[in-house]
Amino acid sequence: MRQPLFVGNWKMHHTILETKAYFENFLRLLLKHDFSDRTISIAPPFTSLFYAHSLIKETPIKLSAQNAHFAEKGAFTGEISPFMLKELGVEYVILGHSERRHLFGEGDELIQKRVEGVYKAGLIPILCVGETLNERNEEKTFERVETQIKRALAGLQNPDPEKIVIAYEPVWAIGTGINATPSQAEDVHVFIRKLLEDLYDKERAKKIRILYGGSVTPENVSELMKEPNIDGVLVGGASLDPEKFFKICSINI
Ligand code: PGA
Repeated sequence: MRQPLFVGNWKMHHTILETKAYFENFLRLLLKHDFSDRTISIAPPFTSLFYAHSLIKETPIKLSAQNAHFAEKGAFTGEISPFMLKELGVEYVILGHSERRHLFGEGDELIQKRVEGVYKAGLIPILCVGETLNERNEEKTFERVETQIKRALAGLQNPDPEKIVIAYEPVWAIGTGINATPSQAEDVHVFIRKLLEDLYDKERAKKIRILYGGSVTPENVSELMKEPNIDGVLVGGASLDPEKFFKICSINI
């Protein structure tokens, strides 16, 4: 019922030339198979979006962006509007990523506006949430995730459940090589699903995809995806290599 979603987040990696080489490899591997039972997306840096779109527009791969402003246009130096992204063929937008929160000081209020602006522009927000190691050690994981989700979704009253995605990304697992175990992740995913039921209703909550992110690799992805509430993965480091990302996207589901 929830179609699995695999998203590669390149972060600040790959020039235009590297983007070209990447997709040559990735498409060569991917297009030999029928992956109509899953959605595969890549989030290159803004500078590669236009070119990436020209390479994948005839393929099933969806284009994602790594952030977006909430307004259509305006005096917001350094920001990119959701409408500009739409023009480039973007369909998904990663929002509230831990690096945006912790390295660039984005707070819940700003993230809420971004989620609302992106959703209203017809793009699909991938809202990232997750606790730090300290918060986990202090048993504040659920509390943290609940606050982040409630605040970020405050502007969306009755959203189309197929048009929002949540990504649970424990901060301690991002880029560290230490992934959450499948059961640690599943516990939080179950909690998030329940929270979505309370915020909306059971039917909607059932349809919202909840991804796991944090040190996902070709080696651990299958075990993670076996959990009933893990509906896909958000992959950083391992998505930079087309062969590795292909291995992740092509697992048996
Ligand atoms: P990672 O990053 O896979 O390199 O841990 C995940 C993410 O930041 O989304």
